[in-house]
Amino acid sequence: MKTTYWSVDNDVNSKKNYPQIVKAAELIKKNEVVAFPTETVYGLGANATSDEAVAKIFAAKGRPADNPLIVHIATFQQLKQIAVDISDTAMKLMHTFWPGPLTLIFNKKPGTVSRLVTAGLNTVAVRMPDHPLAMALIRESGHPIAAPSANKSGKPSPTTAKHVQDDLDGIVAGIVDGGPAGVGVESTVVDCTGSPPVILRPGGISKEDIEAVIGPVEEDPSIASSVSKPKSPGMKYRHYAPDAPLYLADGEQQWIQQLIDEKMAAGLKVGILAPQETASFYKADVVVPCGSKADPKSSAQTLYQALRSFENSGVDIIFSEVFPRTGVGAAIMNRLEKAASHRWMKQHMKDQD
Ligand code: TXA
Ligand code: MG
Repeated sequence: MKTTYWSVDNDVNSKKNYPQIVKAAELIKKNEVVAFPTETVYGLGANATSDEAVAKIFAAKGRPADNPLIVHIATFQQLKQIAVDISDTAMKLMHTFWPGPLTLIFNKKPGTVSRLVTAGLNTVAVRMPDHPLAMALIRESGHPIAAPSANKSGKPSPTTAKHVQDDLDGIVAGIVDGGPAGVGVESTVVDCTGSPPVILRPGGISKEDIEAVIGPVEEDPSIASSVSKPKSPGMKYRHYAPDAPLYLADGEQQWIQQLIDEKMAAGLKVGILAPQETASFYKADVVVPCGSKADPKSSAQTLYQALRSFENSGVDIIFSEVFPRTGVGAAIMNRLEKAASHRWMKQHMKDQD
């Protein structure tokens, strides 16, 4: 399939941009798959009400059929068409954080959304993206849009149209290039079907932000421990991973440098991911700085770009420093732990978990 590309800026109503959005929306209406920017990462969108369209998303990504998709909406009316039992707590969250990087799980209203979207569950994940292009595409297509991240299954999520092209050129009908995504990691997924709500996936909105609005929430135990079975089906897969094995290295820089030296002495090509404050300390084959320790948001923005940059560098092994877990840092460490398949190297054995 030949992929159509559109380059669009945020001025969605301009003479240059609007016709391109209309064309992208036409493909959605024809049950084709189109990648588009959101404020978190690029999404791979299709008409959420069509089995035919949604099946194409799973095929393009190579995504397991038991991993449900998030439905992207532009109006509260669309929410009412697909979800029931919307609690006051959920209303508070939506009023505070929508449009934005927060996905809420509701009981599903039967009959609207394709059963493929929800992978056989009775619940549906919904979010309203804070991105003018995404919102214009949903409005113009006239449908809620099911969209996972627009990467091949298992790869880091795309934060630019080039990343999408690298994974899906020739496989999807269209790619809307709207420049780099802002947040850089995916939305926070919160199950609102019970009380209190439960965070299933840390993301762009922090637990602290959520608790400031609705009080204490729970966290799915699988986020803290690789042993528990996650409630969010997608969280069980190895994810966000570059080709070479990644190890989280928890210790002083000299000690991490020793790990690097040992591997280099053994003839391996070694990569290191570190915040910009310490990146220049390391001597390795490939050193990739990733935002500032003092500003987790900056690390979130560059995390996936950083992981992808190891891809063509030919490294055999990657070490990553540990990033602070405050705010969006919880999502950064969650993704790094997954990318590392929970492989830790710890300088101080007492910390071993
Ligand atoms: O920021 C984002 O959320 C991006 C952009 C494109 O919106 N989307 C995204 O989608 O990250 P995806 O498919 O990569 O991740 C969706 C997550 C998966 O972990 C999936 O298992 C979970 O949401 N999920 C979807 N529906 C669910 C449901 N009914 N119950 C529990 N988890 C659900
Ligand atoms: Mg994904």
